[in-house]
Amino acid sequence: MSGACDSIRFVLDGRVVEARDAAPTTTLLQYLRETLGRTGTKEGCAEGDCGACTVILGELDGERIAYRPVNSCIRFLPTVDGKSVITVESLRGPDGSLHPVQRAMLDYHASQCGFCTPGFVMSLFGLYLDAPRPRRAEVIGALSGNLCRCTGYRPIIDAGCCMADYPEPLAWSRRDAQSGERRALLDSLRRGAALALATEPGYHAPMSLDELARLYEAAPHSLLLAGGTDVGLWVTKQLRELPPLIYLGEVAELKRVREADGIIGIGAAVALTDAFAAIVARYPMLAELAERFGSPPIRNSGTLCGNLANGSPIGDVMPVLIALGASVLLRRGGATREMALDEFYAGYRKTALAPGELVAEARIPVPRPGRLVASYKVGKRFDQDISAVCGGYAIELRGGTIASARIAYGGMAAVPQRARRTEAALAGRPWSEATMASAAEALALDFRPITDMRAGNGYRLQVAGNLLRRFYLEHRDPEAPSRIGVFARTAA
Ligand SMILES: Cc1cc2nc3c(=O)[nH]c(=O)nc-3n(C[C@H](O)[C@H](O)[C@H](O)COP(=O)(O)OP(=O)(O)OC[C@H]3O[C@@H](n4cnc5c(N)ncnc54)[C@H](O)[C@@H]3O)c2cc1C
Ligand code: FES
Ligand code: FES
Repeated sequence: MSGACDSIRFVLDGRVVEARDAAPTTTLLQYLRETLGRTGTKEGCAEGDCGACTVILGELDGERIAYRPVNSCIRFLPTVDGKSVITVESLRGPDGSLHPVQRAMLDYHASQCGFCTPGFVMSLFGLYLDAPRPRRAEVIGALSGNLCRCTGYRPIIDAGCCMADYPEPLAWSRRDAQSGERRALLDSLRRGAALALATEPGYHAPMSLDELARLYEAAPHSLLLAGGTDVGLWVTKQLRELPPLIYLGEVAELKRVREADGIIGIGAAVALTDAFAAIVARYPMLAELAERFGSPPIRNSGTLCGNLANGSPIGDVMPVLIALGASVLLRRGGATREMALDEFYAGYRKTALAPGELVAEARIPVPRPGRLVASYKVGKRFDQDISAVCGGYAIELRGGTIASARIAYGGMAAVPQRARRTEAALAGRPWSEATMASAAEALALDFRPITDMRAGNGYRLQVAGNLLRRFYLEHRDPEAPSRIGVFARTAA
């Protein structure tokens, strides 16, 4: 890895902060609190679960600055290089006045002990910049990554619904957030060459795919860092020492979503928020899966390809992508190969990636007429929970017969896996409840799930079968809407 010495630069309250000599695994939260003395941002869980550490990152996006909430507790400091960081302290007006979000929190009695409050304020502030008059459902969605243990959510949600009623603030109005001055400052941080830190461990943020592929092939012991929503916890929770890091987030080619030749291509640096937006635009039935994946701050950092590459047996996007027949484009040095996603997993958290090889793109087929698609996630909570079982279904009908069936489950085996015997029990059979019931029995031949703290093996098998029946019930008559919504949030 390069021995170049560089420093991390980001914008905070209208000036450029230059961080020298910080270890690349220093979290943004640590740096804010311990180095800059910005103790308004809190640490609750240090694993992206509670939202107490929420800050907003601003980034140039064409003519605009895109502002998004992230969890600063698992975000490594160098990944904010070139961006703008907004903390709860930033919202104070030049005359000391409160921002409308803070004013509303106060007026609606939305804080008691106050520990969670800066996080709620920042999540609401992200929504304030995005939605001039948010609906209640949008407020609830924006807060799905924030926990409060004493106030109760109703007054906080009320504050979010009413924050738009207050007069424009002096600082951080929607107009101010897009000011030419703020854009110019971010523009001044653009790099001509990759950020490379000669720290321990090393850190390199290549700016092109060729540079990335070359670097990783030459140093395959390095760790690829995408959104860090898995990797961050290896440091904050497991206290692991990491090898040199290669960050994907500055590689222009990997930040693209494209649609061509019958596929939706999602680059490895595309955040889950944008990946799901592209997927849901073509597969509206996957909106709930998108909404229930982590929380907005997790989806703003984490990537779809990181979820695939991490290879967790309970990763949420694999089952439906396997059912759809998705593939991954792999790159090692100058060589590329494409592999079906259902062949990508070699064992528990093992993938087919060779040393120095990376996932460059996830390739998802566009919808086909006559193909019914769904994904169901079953966990203990609606929001921000890990699946006990997650199913993905893609079934094609011809007349009243099942022409083809692809079904995959997470949480049922050491890897996300197709239910091949169940598929065989469906293919060529009549599209009926009896067919589904007998196919559900084949699940026991496909899977021997484990019992763990999330669910027992018997429960998992039963749920997997019930989800198959649910798929049938929801799709048996396209004219009769029978969607079993857990929370009819969109109607709220
Ligand atoms: C609070 C919280 C909630 C979560 N909720 C969910 C959930 O609901 N559902 C779910 O499935 N997951 C969830 N996760 C897990 C995590 O967010 C996802 O797995 C996410 O998609 C990981 O992507 P990332 O970009 O952050 O990966 P990173 O943490 O950056 O990387 C993860 C692993 O993949 C490797 N990697 C990353 N990109 C590539 C690439 N392009 N090529 C090769 N290797 C690569 C890294 O080296 C590392 O080994 C949650 C995590 C947290 C902390
Ligand atoms: S401290 Fe809990 S999400 Fe960051
Ligand atoms: S006000 Fe105490 S945790 Fe929310």
